[in-house]
Amino acid sequence: MRVRKAVIPAAGLGTRFLPATKAVPKELLPIVDVPTIQLVVEEALAAGIEEIVLVTGRGKSAIEDHFDVSYELEETLAKRQKRELYEQVAAISRRVRLISVRQKEPLGLGHAVAVAHQAVGDEPVAVLLGDDLIDCEGLPQGGIGQLCSVFERLGGEAGVVALTEVPAGEEHLYGVVAGDVVVDSDEQRLLRLSQLVEKPAPGTAPSQLAILGRYVLPASIWPILERTAPGKGGEIQLTDALRTLAAQGDGCYGLRLRGVRHDAGDRLGYLGANLAYALKRPELRPGLVALMRDLIDRYG
Ligand code: UTP
Repeated sequence: MRVRKAVIPAAGLGTRFLPATKAVPKELLPIVDVPTIQLVVEEALAAGIEEIVLVTGRGKSAIEDHFDVSYELEETLAKRQKRELYEQVAAISRRVRLISVRQKEPLGLGHAVAVAHQAVGDEPVAVLLGDDLIDCEGLPQGGIGQLCSVFERLGGEAGVVALTEVPAGEEHLYGVVAGDVVVDSDEQRLLRLSQLVEKPAPGTAPSQLAILGRYVLPASIWPILERTAPGKGGEIQLTDALRTLAAQGDGCYGLRLRGVRHDAGDRLGYLGANLAYALKRPELRPGLVALMRDLIDRYG
């Protein structure tokens, strides 16, 4: 079954980026000059997603404005012959149906996804978090596209989540998994998951494999989400719902993605993502390399 719809939860408080996120949604913080959420929407489009449900909260209306048609901007830029700048985002608005729903209180990621149920309907869904950026240069599918392919190949009834190996000692920051390897090649590594623990206490993690912010979930996730009680931190955790999914029916799989992952939800990861995406742009690269050398000499 083809995955046609995606949910992008963007209703979190973004406390790690205060004070920047007091009035500006974290999802609009730029990677060079493109808001993080636009990169995530482009990734979903590359995977063939046709409809995106944005889950937003209080103070997040600027995200909706970003994807809206802006006639004033369109006209002004057309006059100044800078239309192609505007076209980048206008093209997105034309290619995808974007709707937004409100999560009235930030009760957790699982709750944010559940809020999108009515808008998505009883069908499979891709979930993408702006906290993780996946640079799959050279791979037309992108991060979520790799998961969609595996999801379809498995028959459309099992969940598939993206995995990454995290350094020892950092497991308590993530949803951590363990399971049986079902495919192991240079091209792909797929596990059928048996254990999923949200932010395990230090020393108790079942492995160093953590879930990163890309998921493809079958329609059976919806009733599970409705029933999932608050877990770690008093929040309704998506990882807890995935554990239930893993224990029933066709289960839940984890796929090691090909590509480079940047943890843009963390300050250092965010700075790294900016540098990496700038270094990829030929018009910025030479200047940036010179600037970095100069800054390191100056600040050590
Ligand atoms: P995080 O917990 O990493 O994001 O949630 P946050 O709360 O925005 O940021 P910090 O930790 O306070 O800095 C991961 C993703 O889930 C969304 C967030 O917007 C983020 O994209 N989320 C989280 C919701 O939409 N609703 C929630 O209740 C919780």
